[in-house]
Amino acid sequence: MLAVEHLSKTYTSGFFLNKTEVHAVRDVSFSIRSDEIFGLVGESGCGKTTLGKMLVRLLEPTGGRVKIGDLDVTNLKGAELQRYWPNLQMIFQDPRSSLNPRMRIGDSLVEGLLLSGKRDLIEDTVQEIIRSMNIREEILNRYPHEVSGGEIQRIVIARAISLNPALIVADEPTSNLDLSVQAQILTLIKNIQKEHPIPCVLISHDIEIVQWMCDRTAVMLRGRIVEEGPTDDLIQNPLHPYTQELINASLFCGEKIEYHNPEVSQTTDEGCPYKERCSMVKQECRIGEVQLRGGIHKVACRAVSEN
Ligand SMILES: Nc1ncnc2c1ncn2[C@@H]1O[C@H](COP(=O)(O)OP(=O)(O)OP(=O)(O)O)[C@@H](O)[C@H]1O
Ligand SMILES: [Mg+2]
Repeated sequence: MLAVEHLSKTYTSGFFLNKTEVHAVRDVSFSIRSDEIFGLVGESGCGKTTLGKMLVRLLEPTGGRVKIGDLDVTNLKGAELQRYWPNLQMIFQDPRSSLNPRMRIGDSLVEGLLLSGKRDLIEDTVQEIIRSMNIREEILNRYPHEVSGGEIQRIVIARAISLNPALIVADEPTSNLDLSVQAQILTLIKNIQKEHPIPCVLISHDIEIVQWMCDRTAVMLRGRIVEEGPTDDLIQNPLHPYTQELINASLFCGEKIEYHNPEVSQTTDEGCPYKERCSMVKQECRIGEVQLRGGIHKVACRAVSEN
């Protein structure tokens, strides 16, 4: 079980009078059971990657914590963190960035297992993951630039899974691939996740992918979660006006959600993050914090909560 509590990240850049702050993630809380795939959707720049990187300790949060079972992952330091790191796996959109270009693919696959001390299990584990990820054995002797994007992503996913992690964050894992390869890889992830339950966060722009893959989904806007619920319910009955916009845009565009430039829509931090674009906005939406409310399907919108 993964529990995220009041997680925040503020990026600071520049010096003195030119100092700027970007509140990339603000007070985000949610939890995931180990048999769940949890979707994270939202427009470009809303904070999805920042949140994902904090979950796997690639970025330090400004506030809040991440717990896996009883372990407070945010508090791990030094050697303790080094030892725990293989448990936290992130899969990126560009899989080549995760592999050493000078290492044969088979060696990269084994390297993680060696580092995690699972030496005696290597032969069996590698055979098992090659089979489960449908990887052709001859690829293992090649270098990353000698195989296709789809094959590389399979290897990277296989390597992540071989470490038997406590959490997987997949950030747009298939958005660089064509539709048929996307479908094959997503099916493999889904099947493996059901076979060996690992809490999994799937970041995607694609509502169809989220609908197919994720048990529950959260919608992010300007660093906050504005709606969260069982995926089918969220898509068929979106409560937040922003979620409605997102789903309409994705239906209208076929597959992909249209982006809004966050720099253009940057407004004051107070109140609802959708206040400048919302047709139902009221005076009270512009002030204070808008909390997520509800049972299993939660929404952070005063207009919806009051009805
Ligand atoms: N290292 C950084 N320094 C300063 N600002 C950053 C940094 N990384 C990200 N940001 C800003 O934080 C906000 C969230 O960025 P993030 O990459 O998490 O968004 P995202 O939802 O993953 O977007 P996309 O869908 O385009 O991948 C953006 O406004 C971005 O410009
Ligand atoms: Mg991103």
